This record gives sequence, C-alpha cells and structure tokens, in this order.
Amino acid sequence: MPIEKTRTQHLKRSHFCSDLKESDIGKIITVAGWVDTTRDLGGIIFIELRDHTGRFQIVADPAKNKDVHKVFEHLRNEFVVIVKGPVTRRPEGTQNPNLPAGTVEMYPAEIELLNRSKPLPFTLDQAEDVDENVRLKYRFLDLRREKMQKTFLIRHKITQAIRSKLNDLGFFELETPILTKATPEGARDYLVPSRVQPGKFFALPQSPQLFKQLFMMSGFPRYYQIARCFRDEDLRADRQPEFTQVDIEMSFTDMEDVIYAIEEVLVCAFEAGGIKISKPFQRMDYDKAMALYGSDKPDLRFGLEFVDLTDLMAKSEFKSFADIAKNNGEVKCLCVSGISEYSRKEMDDLKALTMSKDFGAKGLAWITFKSDGSVSSPIVKFFKEDEINEMKKRAGVKAGDTLLFIADKPHIVAQALGKLRLHIGEKLNLIDKDKHALIWLVNFPLFEYDLIEKRLSSAHHPFTSPKPEDIHLLDSNPEKAKAAAYDIIYNGTEIGGGSIRIHNMELQSKVFKIIGIDENTAQEKFGFLLDALSMGAPPHGGLALGLDRLVMLLTGNKSIRDVIAFPKTQTAACPLTDAPGKASDKQLKELHIRVAEPK
Ligand code: AMO
Ligand code: AMP
Repeated sequence: MPIEKTRTQHLKRSHFCSDLKESDIGKIITVAGWVDTTRDLGGIIFIELRDHTGRFQIVADPAKNKDVHKVFEHLRNEFVVIVKGPVTRRPEGTQNPNLPAGTVEMYPAEIELLNRSKPLPFTLDQAEDVDENVRLKYRFLDLRREKMQKTFLIRHKITQAIRSKLNDLGFFELETPILTKATPEGARDYLVPSRVQPGKFFALPQSPQLFKQLFMMSGFPRYYQIARCFRDEDLRADRQPEFTQVDIEMSFTDMEDVIYAIEEVLVCAFEAGGIKISKPFQRMDYDKAMALYGSDKPDLRFGLEFVDLTDLMAKSEFKSFADIAKNNGEVKCLCVSGISEYSRKEMDDLKALTMSKDFGAKGLAWITFKSDGSVSSPIVKFFKEDEINEMKKRAGVKAGDTLLFIADKPHIVAQALGKLRLHIGEKLNLIDKDKHALIWLVNFPLFEYDLIEKRLSSAHHPFTSPKPEDIHLLDSNPEKAKAAAYDIIYNGTEIGGGSIRIHNMELQSKVFKIIGIDENTAQEKFGFLLDALSMGAPPHGGLALGLDRLVMLLTGNKSIRDVIAFPKTQTAACPLTDAPGKASDKQLKELHIRVAEPK
C-alpha cells in the first residue's frame, strides 16, 4: 500500500482546526481530524479537515508538496489524518467567511494516514434527512456532526456551570445506589433479578428521592447529584426511559431557600447556554394556571387566556351549554384575532382537531365578529343581545375577533382548550420566540383523585409535606389540602419539580394511609424511611431539574433524544447495541427465571 509507506514520524497535534487565525501565519503547526470534503480542482486537491472545533482547509499541489499530494489522491471522506506544515494566508477571493479558520490554510509538508473509513451509510451533512433509527444505529457517526458536537459541548458547559454553582452554595456531590428498592414517582419500575436471592428483584431508581432524604437524616447539610433515573413509561419527545436529573436536597430549609438556590443555579445554567435571564422568577398558583391556561405548565410567552362564561351560559337558552354549566361543568372560550376569514372547512378542521382523542372535546363552537360588523356563528342565534354584549365585554372582543368555545367537565375543558391555545399560539405565530418565560408553579393540591383506583393518590410523591396550615385538613377534607410543592416551568415545559418533605413519622404514616398504603405495606416498602424519620430527622426539602429537558430547550432542540448521547427509541430500544436482548438459557437459569414466550 503506497499510503502507509509515506509515514514519516509520529506526529502530535499542536492546534485544533478552528483555533487557527491570521496571527498563526508562518507557524509550523500540526492538526488532526477527519476528511470532511475533498475537491480536486485541476490537479490541486483541497481538503476540509474536521475536528470537534470545526474545519480547516489543507491543500496539496504536485508543484508544491508532491509527496503529500500522492497521499491526498487516496483520501476519502472520514479518513483520519494528521498533517504538519506552515500556516499560510488564503489567496484573496478564496477566503471562507463562514469558517473561523476561513482566512488561512496549509500546504502540509508531512501527512500521516491514521485510519481509513468504509463508505458511510449516510453522508454526515445529510443526516438530518435520514431516518432517526439509522442515525441512532450509527450514533458514533451522527455524533461526529458539527451540530451534535456543539450541542454536547453546551451540555457539558451547562453541567459544569451547575456543578460549580452548587459547590459554591455548599452542596456536597454524593452518590446513591442504582440497584435499589422501588421509589414511587408514578412510572413502572425497571427490575433487575437477583441471582443470589431467588425470586427477588432490585428496582432501578425512578429518582434518588428516598436516599437524598436519608442523606439529610444522616446529617449532610446539602446534597446534589447529577443522577441517572429510570422510568418505564410511555415515551414522548421530552421523555426517555433513562434520563438525568440535577437532584438536590437541603436540610433546615424552607421553600424560599430552595427557590433561591435553584434560581441561582438556573441563572448560571442559562448563561452557559448563552441566555441571560434575571431573577426572581414569576410565581403562579396552580389554580390560576389551570383556570387561565388549562395547564400546570403554562407557556407564558403569549397571552390567549381562557375566558370563563360558565355562569352566563347556565342562564342562557343554548341548551347544550346550559346543561353542562348547570351540572358542575364549565364553558370557557378563547378570543382569537386573525381567523375571522377562515373558511367553513378551516373551522371544521379546527373543530375536528379539538374533538380528536388527544384533545378530547365533544365539540367546538364559535362566534366570529367580522370587521364589517356582521357576525358569523352556528350558535349566535341562541343568545340574547345582552348576553352577546357580556361575552364581548369579558373576552375583550375587537372587530375581527373570534370566540372559540368548549363546554365540558372542568378537566376536559382544561385539556382541550389548553391544547387548542397552544395549537393556535403556534399556528398564528403568537409565541414570542425571544422571550424566556420562567415561572414557579406553587400551591399544588397535595392529592388528586385517581379515577381508575377510585381513591386519592399523591399529586407529587407521597413524601411531599402538606402546607403547615393545611395539615388539619388531612383528617377532615384531604382533597382540599395544598402541598408545599413547587414546579419550575420554562416556556411551557416542566424542567423541574420538588417539595418540602414530611419529616415527621406520624404525618408520613397518615399520608400513606390516605393514599391507600396500609401499615404493613408501608413497613414493607418504606420501613427504612419511617425508621429514619423517627430517629431525629431534620426538616428538609429539595427539587430535581430534568437536565436533558433543560439542555434540549437551551440548545433549541425539539427532541430530548438529540441531547442524549445514546438515547432509546420510542419503543425503548437501542438500535446501536440492539438492546434489550435475549438472555441465554444459562443466565435465565441462574436467575431463576423462565420466559413465557409472547404469543
Ligand atoms: P419529577 O418526577 O417531577 O420529580 O422529576 C423531576 C424532573 O425530571 C424531569 N423528568 C424527565 N425527563 C426526561 N424523561 C423523563 N422520563 C422524565 N421524567 C421526569 C422533568 C421533571 O421536572 N424526586 C422528585 C424531585 C423532588 O421532589 O425533589 C422527582 O423526581 O424535567
Ligand atoms: P348542537 O346544538 O349540538 O348542534 O351544537 C351547536 C354547536 O355547538 C356545534 O358547532 C357544536 O360543535 C358545538 N358544541 C356542541 N357541544 C359542544 C361542547 N360541549 N363544547 C363546545 N362546543 C360544542
């Protein structure tokens, strides 16, 4: 092979591609990387060499560097080379303003071919158009792309900024077990069978929740961990079965302390992501968020708040709405500008969307107040003039506005009108993309009614304390009790959540009882916690940030998979390694497991 013969000596890299500038002209430097592109222009070969910082042009000309040119002739995309030579100025007119090193180049005097590459299954600059499963199967190639390198550099910077701030604030970085007992966070557990104890299983942590509380009871003042969590749940664009939390706990603390620390941390994390935000962040009550936006993670980059017309409709002659309004239902509307000229078909499409399974409404009614003063609506005939005037007043209707109504049980109105609000916000470009809407959601209910189990369950997790002033409600009216819990929302995504915890054994037992965990089960599942709570547990509380979600939003990505190096697919599989895989008969036998083959 002619190429390897040209090896001269072992070269060592002195610079990264994008570091090279005009001030380096004349210096002898060494750069290494992958062949990104090659162009042969009349015998002169131009190569863009790529490393994690970017690209640098290297050139071979039979008249200038003949030996190197011979090697260049054999180079193909993704071959790995190291080159040494003087930095020169690119001739006038050939400079590339899009590259940091675009004013300089090199005619290498030496080259070493470090490795070859088979033709790739996809070209790197077209990866965005390739099926995601193929990208994930060849993730090592996908990650070589400049965009991905940039994303993971920012992820690294954000993580480091968070660590550094937490260290400054007196937090200890501590680790908790991965092979452990179930931690209830509302998802299914991933189980790991024990070989030594037949029929028994470890659960992977859904979060380090109980261990971080134990740290507080162990006397550590403040804990954090960049912690891996495992949840077997239905996957979405912002959910992975294996994800990372910035997990935090503090003792002798209250909600204001936790909020202060997290705001400090987030300001630094955003700065590392290139975004300047100021604190304190806005706060909103859960009840208000549900009433105005139908969501506990409202996107406040735009308005379009719900208008409540329930009382008005209860008295109206439009029977569909009046019946719902009089029977514990709600009638609410959005006041939208910019759709008054929608065709009947466009309105019907909007109606079909609201009636889809995802939105769940039973219908969509509308009244359009056209700019010419006329009114177009399938339902306006049911209302008296003063009722119309009252609707207009409450919704602040201007000429050209359309009211979109949904009537249903409150949770359906919240869901359907909330999703319609987001859909319209997106479709009519109402979202101010330069805005960074950070908001604390507070005053959550402690419990919610589980329609399937027909009992109360914890709205956050069972270790969340009621607000002190609501503890008395646990005996009389638990569903009215508010939680000392808080979520942090960024542009409509929940990026973190936490609470002040119960630090009293009797109160913890009472909460278990309310959510249907009897004394025996509580002992079996959480005996260690109840023990620790009864042996000098300090008041404590904390929060966990979803690191992947935060990085996704700060890097402008739409999917959490784009910010996790080796993510799982929608079916919780890894195309790269083909995990999950079968276990051998020997392994299964050792684990005392027999597989019932799926039919
Ligand atoms: P929670 O369950 O709210 O709280 O989780 C905290 C944050 O973790 C992120 N997150 C996820 N990110 C990606 N994929 C998932 N499947 C996923 N699930 C959650 C979210 C969420 O806000 N132990 C408590 C925290 C505490 O009380 O201190 C907990 O885990 O951004
Ligand atoms: P109806 O009287 O049932 O023919 O409905 C008249 C209009 O009201 C239609 O446009 C329906 O889509 C709409 N509508 C009916 N029920 C609801 C509901 N629960 N919420 C919103 N719109 C509804």
